[in-house]
Amino acid sequence: MSKLWGGRFTKPTDKLVEEYTSSIGFDVKLALQDIQGSKAHVEMLGKCSIISEDEAAQIKEGLQTIEKKIENDDVEFSVEDEDIHMNIEKLLIEEIGPVGGKLHTGRSRNDQVATDMHLYLKEKTKQLIGLVEAVQKSLADQAEQHVDTIIPGYTHLQRAQPVSFAHHLLAYFWMFERDKERLQDSMKRIDWSPLGAAALAGTPYPVDRKMTAEALGFENVYPNSLDAVSDRDFILEFLSISSILITHISRLSEELILWSSQEFNFVELDDAFCTGSSIMPQKKNPDVPELLRGKTGRIYGNLMGLLTLLKGLPLAYNKDMQEDKEGMFDTVETLDGALSLLAPMLASMEVKGANMRQAVNEDYSNATDIADYLAVKGLPFREAHSVIGQVVLYAIEQGKYLLDLKLEEYQQFSELFEKDIYEKLAPDHVVAARASEGGTGFEQVKEQLALAKKHIN
Ligand code: ARG
Repeated sequence: MSKLWGGRFTKPTDKLVEEYTSSIGFDVKLALQDIQGSKAHVEMLGKCSIISEDEAAQIKEGLQTIEKKIENDDVEFSVEDEDIHMNIEKLLIEEIGPVGGKLHTGRSRNDQVATDMHLYLKEKTKQLIGLVEAVQKSLADQAEQHVDTIIPGYTHLQRAQPVSFAHHLLAYFWMFERDKERLQDSMKRIDWSPLGAAALAGTPYPVDRKMTAEALGFENVYPNSLDAVSDRDFILEFLSISSILITHISRLSEELILWSSQEFNFVELDDAFCTGSSIMPQKKNPDVPELLRGKTGRIYGNLMGLLTLLKGLPLAYNKDMQEDKEGMFDTVETLDGALSLLAPMLASMEVKGANMRQAVNEDYSNATDIADYLAVKGLPFREAHSVIGQVVLYAIEQGKYLLDLKLEEYQQFSELFEKDIYEKLAPDHVVAARASEGGTGFEQVKEQLALAKKHIN
């Protein structure tokens, strides 16, 4: 059979052009969505008497046969038929004869491909929301075990103030909560049906767009046919949300890599999630978080690619738009892989609480609390800060930590120091003292954890 659009042509397509313009190599991923869209369309054609009910039934049956064959991997798609839409239409005509040619009545590949992508992204967004939630669950479970585990908190990657390890993990929980919310919110804009917009201008056939939208589970129909076929905002939005999400995954991965280094030695990733070196027998490399961090590049790239692709396009469809798919598929698959690994890797991670505690015992991260101690006794905080700066310098020179200094040594710096300074400096006290709302105080972290759990099933 020749090209479905061959009527106007006098020469066969150049082979290189065929290869170059074909998208079947990647849009084959839309095969099932394409059939789903076609079924809804042909049913509507029958019900609206645009074709006979009998013809509609034959076409639907043919589509079902092809669907089964696709599921059983029993079809061959060809580059000559350019894309998934024409491949399936061709298979349909081969399957049921010329009546199959009625399927494309009142429709264009332009509204067809847009419909397929809406269907695809709707399904994948739902799946990704579930995967984000699995990561949140791992974080909340680990947090639950480690409310009382104290880790140095950093700014500028310098020890700043100690925090509950649960508090640190929950910071990521909330990042993922916002990602999940953004994905959920984006559904509102995915949930529009372009079907029935036809090539760009609508169609003279009395199609019922609400009927097909409903059959496909879409909330709305695009009110403008030009917008319906040329809108790719829903993909841009998905890629933007994905870029933020992979940023969070990457930041967390970076911390896991640091924490599992010998220098930090705060966590140990399970052997099942690490790999070795071909030459250095002692190595246990955090390849998974490194790759998670590295995947950021392609997802940002996919967003930049589509933004750039769309920025100069006149209405309505342009062939450029065929380039919208691979970045979307790649982002879906990359995130699927990343989230599927991150959840069990976090769940199986060993937390070395004693090492974290030792780190906190061997630093000056309780210095703010001595400044606060003087401030509470009436010294203006700014002056207290300066006094404690001198205390810290003195302690460093003596090779001591703040808890090791004698009361007389403290009193050389200020007469306000009394014996009770030592209890204020103990790491547990330092953490517990930060009882402001959202702070790292143990009780506040427990409240935060209870709130977090309400956001996951
Ligand atoms: N393969 C095309 C794409 O992905 C389908 C739409 C083609 N429409 C057209 N008028 N050439 O964009």
